[in-house]
Parts: sequence; C-alpha cells; structure tokens
Amino acid sequence: MKISVCGKGGSGKSTVVALLANEAQARGYRVLVVDSDESNSGLFRMLGFDHPPVPLMELVGGKKSLKQKMAETNVLSETHIATAHIPGQYLLQRDGLMLVSIGKILQSLEGCACPMGVLSREFLKKLALETDELAIVDMEAGVEHFGRGVDTSIDSVLVVVEPPLESVNVGQKIHDLASGIGIKNVWAIMNKVPSGEIATRLKTELQERHIEMVGCIYFDADIFSSSLDGRIAVKGVAVWDIKDILDRILSRAGIPALG
Ligand SMILES: Nc1ncnc2c1ncn2[C@@H]1O[C@H](COP(=O)(O)OP(=O)(O)OP(=O)(O)O)[C@@H](O)[C@H]1O
Ligand SMILES: [Mg+2]
Repeated sequence: MKISVCGKGGSGKSTVVALLANEAQARGYRVLVVDSDESNSGLFRMLGFDHPPVPLMELVGGKKSLKQKMAETNVLSETHIATAHIPGQYLLQRDGLMLVSIGKILQSLEGCACPMGVLSREFLKKLALETDELAIVDMEAGVEHFGRGVDTSIDSVLVVVEPPLESVNVGQKIHDLASGIGIKNVWAIMNKVPSGEIATRLKTELQERHIEMVGCIYFDADIFSSSLDGRIAVKGVAVWDIKDILDRILSRAGIPALG
C-alpha cells in the first residue's frame, strides 16, 4: 500500500508521517518512508536517524543530468524497484523502518524542482512492495505535486488539516484533485486540535465539503516542544490518536493485520 500525506504548509504532514511510520513499524510492518519534500531536510531526524540518506537524485547523477541518466542502467531504470534492491547509502534502515529521499533544493538559482517531481513520480510508480510493506510519502506542501503527476500511483491520500480555514480550503483542493485522478481512498486527518469543541467544528467543515475523516490528533505539547530539537516525542496524546487512525486506514483499505 502506498500512502501519501499531503496538506498545507506546516499542517503537520511530517509529524503524521513519523507517527504513522513508528506505529506501523511497531505492528510488524516494514515501512518505507519516502521523503518527497524538496525544501525541508529534517525528516531523517524526526524518524530517529542521525544523518539523511543520499538523495535518489544523486543516483541519477544530480538534477542536471537526470534526463540522460534516467536512460542508463541503475536500480531506477528497472521496471520494478524492490526495497531490497535500493543501495544502502540511499536507503537508511533501522528495525524495519526505512527512509529514502528524492532530493533537495540546495542552491539559489539552481532551477525549478520539476526534475524531482519526475523522479518522485517514476520512483513511486516502479516501487514494488511486499505484502508486509507500506510506503508512506511525505509530500511537499500544497498542491503542485498533483500538477507534476507525483500521486498517480498512490493508493491512499491522507490530507492533514488544522483549524485555520485556509488549511481546510487547501485540504479540499487536495481532496478534489486526488479524487479527480481516480484515487478512491482520500481521507482527512484533523491535526493540532486544541479542544473537543474545535474538533466538532472542524469535523462539520469537513462533512459539509464531503471529505471523509479518519481521525483527529489533538494538540500535543510534547510533540510541539520536541520539534525545537527537530525530533518527535513519542509519549503524548498524539501517539494514542495515531493508533486509532492507523486502525481505520488499514481496515478501510482492506489491509489485513500481520501475524
Ligand atoms: N498534533 C500536534 N500537536 C502539537 N504540535 C504539532 C502537532 N502536529 C504538528 N505539530 C507541530 O507543528 C509544526 C509543523 O509540523 P510539521 O513539520 O510536521 O508540518 P509539515 O506540514 O510537515 O510542515 P512543512 O509544510 O513545512 O513540511 C511543528 O512544530 C510540529 O511539532
Ligand atoms: Mg514537512
């Protein structure tokens, strides 16, 4: 199953990715996290790794030579890419939790991020998962990835929305774009919810827009304070909220529990 986590900038996509990945790994899944955000570089730390993987963009010789190199022979030129075939420096792993990164914008005037969109799209298309494997994609903020076709091979889209109306509006756009390309499982997660009252109001907003919701993560002071260290606290309320969310995702997607 390939899940992408989308939403407005700062809504909590990377946090949700890390919480979901940890919970799925604890249940015995092998989890491949795909960092498809070309701007932010700290996902490795949020997942408990001490350095980032070498971006897959380097495997194809960097942005400039992407076009020529895509034609050359390497794991990315195979028709199917198994996690076991991705060379070690490009795939970090720890106890079944794996991380690959597509690429980052490092310099000013280096050109647009379109080549990374192409690489994300092709990698996700070719990625062939085993039955005990889940891929969770940390998408760039906003909706541009739909324009680049990155989501074409995604089974389920999780839209992270937080209370500001603008976040709900971006969530609706993502919902409509994902549904428009035929993705059946498009679900919202309400995040950073400070109270039951706000949860009810946010839920109503989503219902009025016909956006199905798979759960609510309350504002978690431990998560927020650990973010100043670039890490994710795994002790607060969010850890419990994510368990229900993973249950619903797996059951709605028809994925059987392991073991
Ligand atoms: N449930 C939560 N409770 C408290 N703080 C949260 C929660 N979810 C996310 N945050 C905080 O919100 C901030 C943004 O989170 P995060 O980096 O995950 O967002 P993002 O959507 O990935 O951002 P970007 O668009 O920059 O990639 C961080 O400080 C994070 O700790
Ligand atoms: Mg992020």
